[in-house]
Amino acid sequence: MSLNLKDEKKIKDSFALIGQEQIFRFWDDLNKTERSILLDQLIKIDPLECQGAWKEINLSSTPILNPQPPSAINSTDPLNSTLVSMHESGEEMLAKGKVAAFTVAGGQGTRLGYDGPKGTFSCTPIKKHSLFQHFAENLSFFTKRFGKCPRWFIMTSHENHAQTKQYFERNQFFGLDKNKVTFFQQGMMPVFSMDGKMLLQEKNQLVMSPNGHGGSLKALVESGSIGLMEEEEIDCISYFQVDNPMVYCMDPTFIGLHKASGSDMSSKAVKKLSPKERVGTFVQIGETLQVMEYSDIPPQISSEKLKDGCLRFGLGSIAIHLLERNFVKRVAGSKKTKRQGLKYHGAHKKVCCLDNNGSRVHPQKPNAIKAETFVFDALPLAHDPLLMEINRKEEFGPIKNLSGSDSRASSEKLQISRNQRWIKVVGGVVKLNKIEISPLFAPTLPYFLEQTSKFPIDLKKLSKESALIELQNT
Ligand code: UTP
Repeated sequence: MSLNLKDEKKIKDSFALIGQEQIFRFWDDLNKTERSILLDQLIKIDPLECQGAWKEINLSSTPILNPQPPSAINSTDPLNSTLVSMHESGEEMLAKGKVAAFTVAGGQGTRLGYDGPKGTFSCTPIKKHSLFQHFAENLSFFTKRFGKCPRWFIMTSHENHAQTKQYFERNQFFGLDKNKVTFFQQGMMPVFSMDGKMLLQEKNQLVMSPNGHGGSLKALVESGSIGLMEEEEIDCISYFQVDNPMVYCMDPTFIGLHKASGSDMSSKAVKKLSPKERVGTFVQIGETLQVMEYSDIPPQISSEKLKDGCLRFGLGSIAIHLLERNFVKRVAGSKKTKRQGLKYHGAHKKVCCLDNNGSRVHPQKPNAIKAETFVFDALPLAHDPLLMEINRKEEFGPIKNLSGSDSRASSEKLQISRNQRWIKVVGGVVKLNKIEISPLFAPTLPYFLEQTSKFPIDLKKLSKESALIELQNT
């Protein structure tokens, strides 16, 4: 984009006005092309949004007044007979194409330290399918069942967008209709120093980072995805993260309950393992349901116990939500105002950047603050939010780290024990070291029960070291 002197002054003034003139400190060293690269980057950034974000990050959190444990629908048994009608109504929504899948995959995955988009990381115990393939096969199940492929929206970031798209293209979209898969990029925010100054990656380039999974709401609107949903009369969005292979990508019972409650946003909750577990905690404050981040919840609240020894605030968020299309539009705000209704949080990170003299800094400890919004902050803005408690062993096996807890190894272990439990439900006793049930055969326990009643699995055949239950059973 070619910018004239007037534009240049306007951009410089707008950043000076918010106290960020230091980003031009190498201006005199830059040639014409280098200067225009910086201006092109800055013109896409809203200085007032950045100023507001920094203020919000530094706002001392207001004390929580009289928090109460929220009430939740108990669905810890996916085969709970009282929820059968909900399952049926959810299936009706799916059959009519009223629900789209939505994966947030724009994170940087720094803890995993894997070179590539996290979704391309392998996650299943035997076939070693990638997270993306695994989700694609989940959706293929529904394509086969209802005769049409559900829409799948995938949010990427500037850093991994091209690689993600190429990965799907190289793999022929894992058999899905490629026209039903939409990729779009989330917004980026400048990264701040500890004292609120935007950092430079190069003399003519700011350090930028994805604006958090909360940015997905605005990105859904700005990418035209919400418009597409409007055209196709898709009402509801099934939101899940890219790093949890155990998620029920499309859960008819959850969808049915969400619809019956007339909720704007519904969330799944699991029992926390300990007060210190690093998941958000659901609390009810007056009329509003909200999630408190593990770093924000005061210990006297998180560790409070009931008479039976259970945590009083024991329900944790695993980032599985259903969002009404119109609610997303409302929270995202109009393009004109640009401002969406979610507050910014600060994440302390180690970030390579230039110091005042232009030398590169490789920090050993956190030196920067990334500005992020969280999708769960939309809950207090929702009418009639619904909480559904599920069994964590059924749907939670995240891959965050390369080893140890929340790693591929721990997730595979959890997947294997879930698969063993499913086999047990249909009358088998398995002591297999490894077992993988393809989502093409059954993506959830209720479907597994249904499938095995139609296509009984040969339990004797399973009495080997490992077993793969695949589509050939159908
Ligand atoms: P995490 O909070 O685990 O972050 O994201 P991360 O970036 O994947 O990993 P670390 O913290 O750097 O190790 C939870 C989910 O939210 C998505 C991630 O892709 C993941 O599915 N996410 C996170 C985004 O889509 N955008 C973001 O800006 C942040």
